Amino acid sequence: MCGIVGAVGIQNPREYAVEGLKMLEYRGYDSAGVGFLDGRIKLYKDVGSPSHLYDILPAKINSNVIIGHTRWATHGKPSKENSHPHISMYKKIALVHNGVIENFVELREFLTTRGYCFYSQTDTEVIANLLEYFYLESKDMLKAMVLLKEKLEGSYALAIVNEDYPDRLFMLKKASPLLVGKGKGFNLIASDASPMVNYTNEFVELDDFDYGYISKEEIVVFNKENKKVDKKTIIKSTESFSHDLKGYPHYMLKEIEEIDEVVKRLVSTYYQDDKYLFDKELIKDLKESDHIIFLGCGTSYHASLVGGRLFENFNNISTTKYIASEWAFHPTFPGEKPFVVLISQSGETADLIHCLKIIQEKDVHTLLITNTAGSTLSRGVTYTLLLHAGVEVSVASTKAYAAQVALLALLSGAIDDNKKVVDDLKDTIKVIEYIKNNFKERIQKIADVIKEHQNVFYLGRSFDYFLSLEASLKLKEISYIHSEAIPGGELKHGPIALISQGLPVIVFITDPLTASSMRGNIEEVKSRGANVFVISTKELSKESDSLVVDNYAYYLSGVAISSVAFYLAYYVSLKKGYNVDKPRNLAKSVTVE
Ligand code: AGP
Repeated sequence: MCGIVGAVGIQNPREYAVEGLKMLEYRGYDSAGVGFLDGRIKLYKDVGSPSHLYDILPAKINSNVIIGHTRWATHGKPSKENSHPHISMYKKIALVHNGVIENFVELREFLTTRGYCFYSQTDTEVIANLLEYFYLESKDMLKAMVLLKEKLEGSYALAIVNEDYPDRLFMLKKASPLLVGKGKGFNLIASDASPMVNYTNEFVELDDFDYGYISKEEIVVFNKENKKVDKKTIIKSTESFSHDLKGYPHYMLKEIEEIDEVVKRLVSTYYQDDKYLFDKELIKDLKESDHIIFLGCGTSYHASLVGGRLFENFNNISTTKYIASEWAFHPTFPGEKPFVVLISQSGETADLIHCLKIIQEKDVHTLLITNTAGSTLSRGVTYTLLLHAGVEVSVASTKAYAAQVALLALLSGAIDDNKKVVDDLKDTIKVIEYIKNNFKERIQKIADVIKEHQNVFYLGRSFDYFLSLEASLKLKEISYIHSEAIPGGELKHGPIALISQGLPVIVFITDPLTASSMRGNIEEVKSRGANVFVISTKELSKESDSLVVDNYAYYLSGVAISSVAFYLAYYVSLKKGYNVDKPRNLAKSVTVE
């Protein structure tokens, strides 16, 4: 995880570094730091989010070179000592790191026997010292970096300053993203384009094992074979990186309220003039495959459950749905002609990157469903479909989930040219708008009850169960309440033992086929004291239900009523006084395994 920034020759390095790190907070925010050269290397760092850096940094930074870091702790707890940048023992080199060094224990031993001391628990301090060790031997930074990359195992994107090079910022990367921004009279680097878009729209992407440096005028890159390479510049649109709250108090609320627009945009992007607009080769590939493996993590995995069920029920294609980190260690490729669908909002999730590496060794085609054009995953797959949901800042994924489900439904529709899916999706837009305009007060009342409890259950069957899983994840993620999603039929096989007096149970009933069984489940938990809140569709509703929405196609719960689950989690977290957008221990983009 972690986000890094760096600049050479920029006018206001302080602002670039801190504002840039704020844009990268989605990658982690338990501590932050900045380093620069002002005769000697100066470091300012502490626990807390990047905004705190304004309190500890000098008002003006007189330095040509600056590096910065926002951290999600892997090795060593969040503390000042473990915050980046890390400086080498003889104080020649300071660096920031995104990634994990797998052999850091051996490397630390190697350095300890050569007199090096360590002041943090991090793997990163080992890199700083090892690089210094090689630099002091070779007296040449580029040579030292070659020796360094030969020794390091694991993942790293590094931004490095060396006291002897006041005009250069060195960089090196493997398996963690690093982008160079090309300026006029300055150059920048960052984990993604967002910190740089106010300064440039021209970027250079680094490949694994690329290394080199930026100065005011130059971007110098060497490749894996240590040959100097001319990297081509890509132009990126700057709009998509806007972090404007647009008057909302939190990104999560803003993003929930964008769901209807996102669904509209998706439909009009992938369906026009009575025709689906997906790549014909992709549809052919999907049709010809005899088994589709869906891979995702967290929310994206929950969307994959919907996608898998749709492809099975509507397209008669057999599927398996896996949590990526589970599949990666025991991969299976059922069928004669399997196809893999990877789902990732960020396109940077390390568990999926691991899976993709395994898949790339086989002759298997892949589709990535993502919100992030040009992401690491999209560079390695056969096809990419974009969610067009706009940047999602809140750690808790909301509009991206609804978009994933909507896009999977459209794709399933396109395989058999089933146009009803489009009408069904259009119907959900009205339901989403209705919830937005009418239910927030009532949901807040439910939140008042939920916030007093340590445990909550969600119940549903089939597509409503998949939504329950997502609803439950959202609640625990931002309100720190333990919650479980249970398929109605499974209750009696064990979980019902946990039902006690007053326990809140939230039930989704939107599928005509399972509605009466769900009503039976409600009786079972009520008779054991549960406090039940039912969300249902008109045709399946009962007077006592808490929220009733217009009928919609049962398989689109994840689109039509996911906002109910998101609002509920949002209000519970808010009422408990938590940081809704930045829950503890989490990061938006999970770039470590
Ligand atoms: C969602 O609210 C979570 N923050 C998390 O489960 C997330 O969906 C997961 O880490 C996968 O991320 P991705 O979609 O970017 O791959």
